Amino acid sequence: MKHTDIIEVLTDREYVGKEVTVCGWVRTARDSKNMAFIELNDGTCLKHIQLVIDKETFAKPLAEFTKLGSSLKVTGTVVPSAVAQDGGVEINVTDLALLGACPEDYPLQKKRTSLDTLRTMPHLRVRTNTFNAVFRVRSVLATAIHEYFQARHYVYVNTPIITGSDCEGAGEMFTVTTHSFEDAANYKSADEFYADDFFGKSAGLSVSGQLEGEVAAMAFGKIYTFGPSFRAENSNTTKHVAEFWHVEPEVAFAELPDIIEIAEDMIKSITKAVMERCPAELEFFEKFFEPGLREKLQHVIDSEFEVLDYTKAIEILESAPVEFKFPVSWGCDLQTEHERYITEEVFKKPVFVINYPKEIKSFYMKQNPDGKTVAATDLLVPGIGEIIGCSEREADYNKLLEAMRVRNMNEDDYKDYIDLRKFGSVPHSGFGLGFERMLMYVTGVQNIRDVILFPRTVGSIR
Ligand code: 4AD
Ligand code: MG
Repeated sequence: MKHTDIIEVLTDREYVGKEVTVCGWVRTARDSKNMAFIELNDGTCLKHIQLVIDKETFAKPLAEFTKLGSSLKVTGTVVPSAVAQDGGVEINVTDLALLGACPEDYPLQKKRTSLDTLRTMPHLRVRTNTFNAVFRVRSVLATAIHEYFQARHYVYVNTPIITGSDCEGAGEMFTVTTHSFEDAANYKSADEFYADDFFGKSAGLSVSGQLEGEVAAMAFGKIYTFGPSFRAENSNTTKHVAEFWHVEPEVAFAELPDIIEIAEDMIKSITKAVMERCPAELEFFEKFFEPGLREKLQHVIDSEFEVLDYTKAIEILESAPVEFKFPVSWGCDLQTEHERYITEEVFKKPVFVINYPKEIKSFYMKQNPDGKTVAATDLLVPGIGEIIGCSEREADYNKLLEAMRVRNMNEDDYKDYIDLRKFGSVPHSGFGLGFERMLMYVTGVQNIRDVILFPRTVGSIR
């Protein structure tokens, strides 16, 4: 269907005075005695274009074209807007064609429907301004991530989604099986059950591409993955989903301070890209979601992120003048309330907490000489808490094996991974950025369910 994107008509002065054809959905309509006005949106930008219809010269009855949600094909002349002072344009309509009617039971009738209500209609909520803005920023952010790594000689690799090994070792994997419910009765043990399953052993959806990413980094030096990860954790919070997109760079010849530098530089670079490329969207989010958003993002770009030792973080939390729901002592994992206190109340900027106790972190992290901590860091940001999990990896064959034995892990499942420490092992580090959490941070949207097309959470899928 030959037509012009509405963003082109709105932004390119060349169209003024010319005839164009645009397509889109009716967002609002006003009918007065002599004139009718329709605001049309085609999704190419946040702004709608105003259609002006002179009822005296326009032959067709208008009622069917002005219903919210109807889709139209419109031809007319682009003219400077009669009211807007900013050089805006509108279309004096000469012809309208109804592509798809939209009856009165279209749920998006009210000007503002709550996010809670919108979540019950994921197939329609994308047609609102909020989701129009969220998904354009999401697209720009994803592109900026690729650009960041591509410009710095990283190889983009795609790691498997179905895996035989649990990267984080926390038992939060979804099982992948072709057995049915009835089959289970035919087997005496789990081992027998899985031995007879599709892969001949138990398999699951990957929680992280890191282990395979390390394999690739030992050949290509610098790699990154950008794909879905799955977590079967029973966390019904505003920042957990069962399926999220995960950005995981893995860098050979990098120690913890090096990977921290990379993570900080990447966060700044992709934040800058969103600020430059999505001014209208950020203005919208600032107005409706987070006052001061753009100033916050500028501060992220300009400030030096804090690097804070875990032990120091515990001291700060222990002497904090607030009552936490989860008590704090050396050795405990930081809860969201602790993370937010550190980054929101104390430092008011992103904070890398480094050197966590080894007991609360994963087997693959490099053990520090103190025997108690690992060279790991989480990046905490105001409003959310952790957005990045990061570490230098244990590159020593014997120390890695020992860490696995302490955790009763099955070495056979990780044979390839252990081999990396045998054949030309090098210091290396990597991190995982939760893409949706980053998106929440740059948009100010507070529920992760509202930055994903079809969120999957405990007890909810459609
Ligand atoms: O901290 P995590 O578990 O780290 C890893 O998976 C490492 N293997 C990463 C690496 O070093 N390559 O997860 C990394 C990030 C978290 O900081 C968080 O932003 C995001 O992934 N994340 C989730 N996002 C949404 N919903 C969930 N259930 C998430 N779980 C983790
Ligand atoms: Mg983590």
